[in-house]
Order: sequence, then structure tokens, then C-alpha cells
Amino acid sequence: MDRIRIVGGQRLNGTIPISGAKNATLPLMIASLLTADTLVLENVPRLADVIQLQRILGNHGVDIMIAGKRPGDEPASGRTLHISAKTIVDTTAPYELVSTMRASFWVIAPLLARMGEAKVSMPGGCAIGTRPVDLLIMALEKLGAEIEIEGGYVIARAPHGLRGGEIKFPKVTVSGTHVALMAAVLARGTTVIDNAAREPEIGDVADCLNKMGANVSGIGTSRLVVEGVTKLNGARHAVLPDRIETGTYAMAVAMTGGDVLLQNTRPELLQSALDVLARTGTTVTPTNEGIRVARNGSALKPVDVTTAPFPGFPTDLQAQLMALMSLADGTSHITETIFENRFMHVQELARLGAHIHLDGETATIEGVKRLKGAPVMATDLRASVSLVIAALAAEGETMVNRVYHLDRGFERLEEKLSRCGATIERISS
Ligand code: EPZ
Repeated sequence: MDRIRIVGGQRLNGTIPISGAKNATLPLMIASLLTADTLVLENVPRLADVIQLQRILGNHGVDIMIAGKRPGDEPASGRTLHISAKTIVDTTAPYELVSTMRASFWVIAPLLARMGEAKVSMPGGCAIGTRPVDLLIMALEKLGAEIEIEGGYVIARAPHGLRGGEIKFPKVTVSGTHVALMAAVLARGTTVIDNAAREPEIGDVADCLNKMGANVSGIGTSRLVVEGVTKLNGARHAVLPDRIETGTYAMAVAMTGGDVLLQNTRPELLQSALDVLARTGTTVTPTNEGIRVARNGSALKPVDVTTAPFPGFPTDLQAQLMALMSLADGTSHITETIFENRFMHVQELARLGAHIHLDGETATIEGVKRLKGAPVMATDLRASVSLVIAALAAEGETMVNRVYHLDRGFERLEEKLSRCGATIERISS
């Protein structure tokens, strides 16, 4: 299994190109099941999760062509996928495939909408909490689906097609909103989705669905209105920038000091996180090309932050902020409200010398003067990258084990960081 070796202490200086968002790419690829025509997705990141979803869609009969290099392509350019679900040959998503990636459960919506049936394995628990699918099932039922749960599978049927309905989510759910949206676009009549998630990736998928001929309004608000259509077409769509990758590198620069341009990204995708960084004393400047982040060695100020659905501070940046606050000049508090068990990084950050005390959903972080390298490992993607950024600021060598988590969500991490002066290398085994 690959490992990443980091020798900390260098400031980061230079440019980091930001990739297309993983959490938009996955539902966009899944939305290709809604049409027999070709969906062309540009700016697709090279990630293990994307490759795994290619396999999963392939099982339903989807063909995916990856475009070759074009004149002017930079090594950092995302890939272009031509995705064609001309004939769906199988409406079952088996346990072996769904258990490897939770988002693959979402195929239930387009399969049901287009084929009138779907049988999808329950995704099961995962390292960051129980993560049930009750709200996804509720949304499908509101659109007229009959649902049975049998042998670990959710079996959904709508032999006469789905019909529009009113869906009101009791809590904000990204997965629930994606599923409701993908099911509603081909339902007869009007669907209203209330208390919809407003994450930018939802807006990106809705924009793409509209390019495919859907009629979704209220994009960017918590009330989405969908007028169903009978058929969707192909379209061409570029995946929006990855706000979590952006925020992660911004925090890395805040931790090590230095001056980095985060290229091809937009501040409005993560304004709450940038505001928090500014409160720590980090300079954040929007530019025409992206976002410039700089810190000149001044002390990091502690902050109190609570995660919340968009536009609040994202849970997917909670671990990285905790790493940053471990070097703050004072005590900070971070409260996690989205997932009940998303603190696996705490023990690992402690190996590097961080002082963190957990009490329920709140972590109290007493800033220390310095961190020291150590062997670490983590059990999820964002926790793993928090260890990487802590290691960049720590004295001496850190070995990050279980790198496959990072490969699921960060494209060319070592290359992007080493170009800015970090000492970081992958050790393959
Ligand atoms: C998405 O997960 C993201 N994944 C997560 O990113 C992200 O952390 C999360 O949204 C919150 O922003 C993708 O987009 C692929 P939810 P999702 O449905 O959709 C509860 C990463 O590292 N809930 O908004 O699964 C649930 O347990 C990942 O990239 C129910 O109770 O999140 C959680 O507490 C990790 N019943 C809360 O809602 C349901 O039926 C929010 O979950 C569904 C969810």
C-alpha cells in the first residue's frame, strides 16, 4: 500500500491549480443515466472515486469514453468524459459495487425515473457516522415510488412512471436533494423540494440537468421547483471547481506561511471558510485567476467555528481547520453538527503533538508552539488530508499511511504541493 512521506517546515509559495469538484462529478456522472444521448463532462478530476463510478455505471450498460489530449491542454487540465447510457441493461446495483462508494446508491433515482425500477444495495455505515438513506427513500415515495427493503437491497418500482409531488426534508441533506432532483426531472407534473440543500454541487447538477432539457428553477435556494419533462437530451457541461480542495490548500498555506495563488476557483464557493481564515489572520484576496492566500509568519488567531450546511462552514473542511488551529496562539472550539462521528483525525493529530479535547460534538483545541512529525494514518478522506497539512507545518518527518483515502478525493496532491516548495513524496509498495 502506498504511503506519503513529508518533511515539514517549508513555506508554500507558488500556484496550485484547483481541480473539478469530486462531489459534483459523481452525481453528474450518475445523471447520465437519465438520457439515451451522450453527456459530455469537462474538467473531470483524475480520482479513484471517478474510476470506481465508471465501473459501477458500466455494470448498468453505460459506455464512457475519455477524450485524449487536446492542443493547449495543461498537465493540470481535467479530463473530458463522453458518457452514453444508450441502453440500460441492468437496473440492479449490487452490494459488491455500492459498498465501495456511498454516492453510488444515488443511481436509484435515475434508474427508477427512466426504467420504472431499480434494485440497489443499501450503502451501509461508514467511518464518519451511520449515514442512513431514510430521507432518500421518503423523497422517492413522495414521487409515487413503491419501496421494499429486502435482503439488504432497496427495491423501488414505479411501473407507470413517477409523478410530481411535494418533498419537504426535515433536515438538510445533500444526498436526499440529489436523489429528489434526479427523480423529479422525468416525473409527470410539478415537484417542489423544500429545505433543499444549497451546496454549490447541487446547483451544478441542476444547471447540467437544465442543459439536458430539464426544467428546474430556484437553483441556489432552499426551494427547488421541477416541472417534469418526458425525455432528456445529451449536453456538454464543465464541472465546477472543488471548494473543499480549495479550502484545504488555503488552510495548508495558513499553516505553513507563504503566498499561494489557488487557480481556477471562486471565493463564493467557500466564503464562510475564507471568512474564518481571515479571522485567523491569514490574508485572502480574490483575483481574476482565483484566490490568493498568504500568511507572513504572524501568529495564528484562534477561532470558534460550527459546521453547518451551505452557506455555513463545511463539515468537509472541519478536520483541516482543526489541524490549523492546533498551531493557533490560544484556544479554539470546533463543533461538528453534520456527522456524529467525524473526529477520527483527533487522535492522529495528537501523535503530531496537537492538544485536542473532545466533548460530545465539540472539540477544544489548545494551540501549541510546534508540531513534530510522526507516523499517522486516517480512516477517511478529509481526516487524511488534515494530517498532510499538519505534517507540512510539523518539524521533521511524517509518514502518512493508507494513502488510498487521499487518492479518492485529491488529484495529484504530492505534485501540487511539491511545486510550491513542500518536501512530499509518495512511496509505492
Ligand atoms: C455529501 O454526503 C458529501 N458527499 C459529503 O462529502 C459531505 O460531507 C456531506 O454531503 C455534507 O456536506 C458527496 O457529495 C458524495 P447528507 P451526503 O445527505 O450527501 C443525515 C467527502 O468527504 N441523513 O447531506 O451523504 C446524514 O446521516 C464526503 O467528500 C439522514 O439522516 O450527506 C448526515 O448526518 C464525506 N438520512 C446529514 O443527514 C438520510 O436519508 C447530512 O447528510 C440522508 C442523510
